[in-house]
Amino acid sequence: MIVIKTISELKEYTAKNDNISLVPTMGALHLGHGALIKEAVKQKNQNGKVIVSIFVNPIQFGPNEDYNKYPRTLTEDVNFCENLGVDVVFVPSACEMYGIEENQKDNFNFSNNYLTYVCPPYFLVNKLCGKSRVGHFDGVATVVLKLFNLTGAKKAYFGQKDAQQLFLIKKMIKDLNLNVDIKSIPIVRDKNGLALSSRNKYLDDDGYNKALIINKMLTKVKNLYERGITNVKILFEEAIGLNNDNMIDIEYFEFIDFNNLENTFEAKENTLVAIAAKVNNIRLIDNLLL
Ligand code: PAF
Repeated sequence: MIVIKTISELKEYTAKNDNISLVPTMGALHLGHGALIKEAVKQKNQNGKVIVSIFVNPIQFGPNEDYNKYPRTLTEDVNFCENLGVDVVFVPSACEMYGIEENQKDNFNFSNNYLTYVCPPYFLVNKLCGKSRVGHFDGVATVVLKLFNLTGAKKAYFGQKDAQQLFLIKKMIKDLNLNVDIKSIPIVRDKNGLALSSRNKYLDDDGYNKALIINKMLTKVKNLYERGITNVKILFEEAIGLNNDNMIDIEYFEFIDFNNLENTFEAKENTLVAIAAKVNNIRLIDNLLL
């Protein structure tokens, strides 16, 4: 496995290897990323190569978000990728990625006054996570398009946990006629049902126990739905009842038609039950696709 830090080296590599599968990540890799990587390695053709990008993308964090303290565990991440049979880990710096001179970085403003951005349509962005994370999906779409261009990836792997991100990337691919096949991989949970996330590293024992409510709410919906209850008002109230003591601070708990991201009043196949909550001030997301 090789570790590449610069765009020029990456281009040299991809000029020789044109059958690339990409797993874009921000590092702090866990078994959820592992599932994406394993699938990419499993599905690669004989002459295929798997590139994992590790890049904490500054332009997808708001000014009051956790860009500076986002977990960075590069040595472990590189070993993790190597053990899973990855061919290349691409780890650019922010300056490298956005073409900024190192000595200019403190003066540089990453806003769209300086950079060309990809902005998914507002009516799809201004929902779920996009309501509180203004600009987040513009930053995601921009870096993902850059990574597609830099790697020439034919396939790219994304987790279903970031469901709105997945939806918007598929929309970008369609709208911009990109030739990338998106593979979505189911959420991976720990033994108590908590969806794996790099931000789980911030949870102490108390936060961890509270965070388990999130999956309990989703499981409640699933069980009721499987018993034939489809009325969203009933499903919502039954599930939200589990958070009676306001153990977690729910930002949204919504039932969404995953064909168009519209709210739905009747749960059916392809309804996304999506939740974001702060647990001791740590923001977590999770979902269930019916
Ligand atoms: O899901 C993530 O980790 C990030 O949003 C992504 C897709 C790597 C873009 O920075």
